[in-house]
Amino acid sequence: MNFADKVVLVTGAGRGIGQAIALAFAQAGARVAVNDINPDSCAKTAEAIMTSGGQALACHADVANKLAVQAMLIDIEDRWGRVDILINNAGVEPHQPIVQLDEWDWNRTLDVNLKGAFICSQSVGRMMQQQGGGAIVNIASIAGRAAGLRDRSAYVASKTGLIGFTKECAREFAAYNIRVNAVCPGVIITAMTAQLRENEAQMQKWLEDIPLGRLGDPEDVTGLVLFLCSDAARYITGQAINVDGGKVML
Ligand SMILES: NC(=O)c1ccc[n+]([C@@H]2O[C@H](COP(=O)([O-])OP(=O)(O)OC[C@H]3O[C@@H](n4cnc5c(N)ncnc54)[C@H](O)[C@@H]3O)[C@@H](O)[C@H]2O)c1
Repeated sequence: MNFADKVVLVTGAGRGIGQAIALAFAQAGARVAVNDINPDSCAKTAEAIMTSGGQALACHADVANKLAVQAMLIDIEDRWGRVDILINNAGVEPHQPIVQLDEWDWNRTLDVNLKGAFICSQSVGRMMQQQGGGAIVNIASIAGRAAGLRDRSAYVASKTGLIGFTKECAREFAAYNIRVNAVCPGVIITAMTAQLRENEAQMQKWLEDIPLGRLGDPEDVTGLVLFLCSDAARYITGQAINVDGGKVML
């Protein structure tokens, strides 16, 4: 897949799945706006792209903050004049039983995982409408399709909502030649799942239910994301597709 001449914005790209997606787009020739709330980590991902000969712009912003997102888009527009592809990847995952879950954590999870995708899709969607098209991929989760992890009520609610938002966004944006899809990873080896993976008994049980017999790496997710943003997927919109070794078959 070749993304030369395309401008891609990946949120939460300082590490983990977002970083792998940013690097994959850069390798495929895209100019990549690397967003993260952590200024050091997004600078590092951008630097890695530039060291390999690619073009990158580090964009420090909180996706839950509309003014910060708008300022970020002004920077990208000043540099490259457009955004062709948006990957809403930034996410947080608090672990608490419902009876103990702090209201702040509930609100923050919904703000980053769901409202953040809305804010970015709205602002970038307006740019894409002017440009005549684009592609958006929301990184949801199998937790939003068939929950199976305990103590993650806010996370599951946010990812279920994100899949619903993906479908509505796809319906509305189709008129402007903008396709919108969701990718739903299973357990991927990143910092987000470090605590989960420490629980050996729980992991053993989880692994028994994965036909392909292993957890995923961030690079297992990138192929589908790039495919969904490519012309090869030009007739695909409003879908939520699992990347989970076959754990959830819907
Ligand atoms: N790792 C998994 O098993 C898994 C499974 C399913 C879905 N996902 C989803 O994939 C996405 C990436 O997960 P990951 O495992 O790479 O997580 P991660 O914690 O390793 O990385 C998430 C990145 O998002 C950034 N971020 C957090 N809040 C932000 C905000 N408000 N604005 C901008 N950046 C912000 C963090 O600083 C971090 O760099 C998340 O949406 C997550 O829910 C992950």
